[in-house]
Amino acid sequence: MRPTEILMVEHRVIKQVLSCLKEMARQTVKSGSLSRPMAEKVIDFIRTFADHCHHEKEETHLFAIMEARGFSRYQGPTAVMRQEHDFGRNCVKQMVAAMAGASAGEKASVSAFVENANLFADMLFSHIEKEDTRLYPMANNILSADDQKGLLDAFHKVEEHDVAHGTHEKYLAIADELADFYGIPKADHTAAIVCDDTMGCGGCGGH
Ligand SMILES: [Fe+2]
Ligand SMILES: [Fe+2]
Repeated sequence: MRPTEILMVEHRVIKQVLSCLKEMARQTVKSGSLSRPMAEKVIDFIRTFADHCHHEKEETHLFAIMEARGFSRYQGPTAVMRQEHDFGRNCVKQMVAAMAGASAGEKASVSAFVENANLFADMLFSHIEKEDTRLYPMANNILSADDQKGLLDAFHKVEEHDVAHGTHEKYLAIADELADFYGIPKADHTAAIVCDDTMGCGGCGGH
């Protein structure tokens, strides 16, 4: 499996949670208050699975090697992707700031939460589409077989060393719990595990 295919499987799980977030925003507008426990689950998923795990693989490893092979760090496709990650981080910060007030039904906080949730989800849906259809094919065109192997090893290290063992599986379960709650179809994420037996660790399930 190529590194970009791993990222594309993760995209499917992230899109599942973005659909849940959109539905949460819709229900919040309808009822006039936010379900705080569900919002906390979505924010936790976004911060850990989407930002810490997935975006780290992109920013620290995939974009970095693309930039080492000729893409500009300051303008061009990887620079735009980094800017969009930052835009998303700001939306999440605003959602967290509005969470307590929105769950208490304060109008301004409900509006702030809903507005940032929709901005974040719409931006990330389109960001993912750009990565899947344009950025990742560009990466596969310029990266050598050794680069691809190095990336796979780096992704493996993100899962094995940068986050606690079992974290990936825990967040796949949260994504499915949210989908069940909001009636969103579940994505196929059977391949969303970075390490497998070829990496010599017995798979993430064996951690
Ligand atoms: Fe990205
Ligand atoms: Fe991505």
